[in-house]
Amino acid sequence: MPLTYYLWASPSTLLAKCWEIFLPTRNASSSDAGGRFSIHMANTILVGMQWGDEGKGKIIDVLTAGADIVVRSQGGNNAGHTVIHRGMKYVLHLIPSGILRHRKICVIGNGVVIDPVALVAEIDGLRQLRVKIDTNLLISDCAHLVLPYHRMLDEQRELRRGRIGTTKRGIGPAYGDKAARTGLRLSDLMQPIVFSKKLQAKIIENNRILQALGAKPISFRDVNETYVAAGEKLRPYVTNTVVYLHKAMDKGKQILFEGAQGTFLDIDHGTYPYVTSSNTTAGGACTGTGVPPHRMDRVVGVMKGYSTRVGDGALPTEDASFAQMLHNLGREFGATTGRKRRCGWFDAVATRYAGMINGIDEIAITNLDGLDQVDPIRVCVGYQLHGKRLDVPPCDATQLANCEPVYEEVPGWKTSIHRARKFSQLPSAARKYVRYISELTGAKLSMVSVGPARGETIVL
Ligand code: GDP
Ligand code: IMO
Ligand code: MG
Repeated sequence: MPLTYYLWASPSTLLAKCWEIFLPTRNASSSDAGGRFSIHMANTILVGMQWGDEGKGKIIDVLTAGADIVVRSQGGNNAGHTVIHRGMKYVLHLIPSGILRHRKICVIGNGVVIDPVALVAEIDGLRQLRVKIDTNLLISDCAHLVLPYHRMLDEQRELRRGRIGTTKRGIGPAYGDKAARTGLRLSDLMQPIVFSKKLQAKIIENNRILQALGAKPISFRDVNETYVAAGEKLRPYVTNTVVYLHKAMDKGKQILFEGAQGTFLDIDHGTYPYVTSSNTTAGGACTGTGVPPHRMDRVVGVMKGYSTRVGDGALPTEDASFAQMLHNLGREFGATTGRKRRCGWFDAVATRYAGMINGIDEIAITNLDGLDQVDPIRVCVGYQLHGKRLDVPPCDATQLANCEPVYEEVPGWKTSIHRARKFSQLPSAARKYVRYISELTGAKLSMVSVGPARGETIVL
């Protein structure tokens, strides 16, 4: 900023500028442990722009270098976020991926649905890998619980016609109870007598449904004992996270909101009914944490250099031989269920729409190295439905399934790129490809990931 700017600026602008100078934690740049990245941080929402598994965990891990707090706002242990660092592989389900970095606070917000037994197991598993979890984890007392009958109902529905291909973690039934106002929350679990009473009524009700579906009833006594015990283990972390986050913001702390799933799995904007049961898009970060929209500074969208989906529902650019090639390389197996992911070409109709819904400011492209040996590379630039060209995905699942992608072909680079650390070190065809798909999506390219490890990242 030139000095003349300060001379001509109004007193209020000057005051604001002084505030920025003396409060360097807001909009500051930070470096990661290795000092290689200079990452501009501010309150940042990170979302998946496709069908989940875009590589959000990896990008969160990189961005956490510049954040103070990492927050999950929706979803549950249906998520599987992979972080690879120093040869170790960590898969996070409920705990924010920021937990792997020193001196960062991780928050599980009110919008997340928590299976307490699964969360205790995740904490124990991370501790075995020498990850420190004590005062660096906070859990909202308003978060809803996933209980065994939710999981069993999910499993039962998946045996029937109209299945979604869920993760069978009980996510849909748990959010269903929340919307029906019959759910149990962590605040209930913190009062064992209240919890037991409510749980008993819920188990009587759900056992009737389970039996009607031909499943075994569940024992109140067993569930009560196991879940109250898990609740006691979680008690030290449970608090009002809304108040915590607001106090942190008042101190100028930087928050990173870690989205789970992806835009086209969003309950409102996704490929309904083949979606998850929460708002996976940027708005979910506000409702799921109690941080209001005007405190959000930017939205980063993560997308793969191609498309993948696990579970049922349309994937317009799906290509079985492309999927086979990726699976042969040992890539694209689900981090939560181990299922083979379906794979297809990059779909700019979808990502452009995701850019709109989420208000994407910056894009991180991951798994570019998955295209190393592909030539030519296909890019979907439009859909064709009953002879008509569409530039946005139709809302109706059957119409979407009938859409024919309109492709353009671009040259591949036919060489390994995982050693590139600067944009200029990428082959020219790879540079052109990422610029092209960012342009089609309509947002600025800020990161390119060329391998699963923290260091295998190009920050532009
Ligand atoms: P998330 O759910 O969005 O966090 O993504 P997942 O962890 O479920 O799946 C992404 C997969 O891609 C994981 O196996 C990551 O380790 C891996 N990954 C992320 N970025 C890259 C990359 O640039 N190259 C390669 N080869 N793998 C990557
Ligand atoms: P991350 O955070 C990919 C999919 C399931 C299914 C649908 C509904 O790792 O990107 P659910 O169990 O939520 O009721 O399943 O959503 N799904 C995901 N797909 N990544 C995820 O999470 C997913 N979480 C749910 O496969 O199609
Ligand atoms: Mg995943």
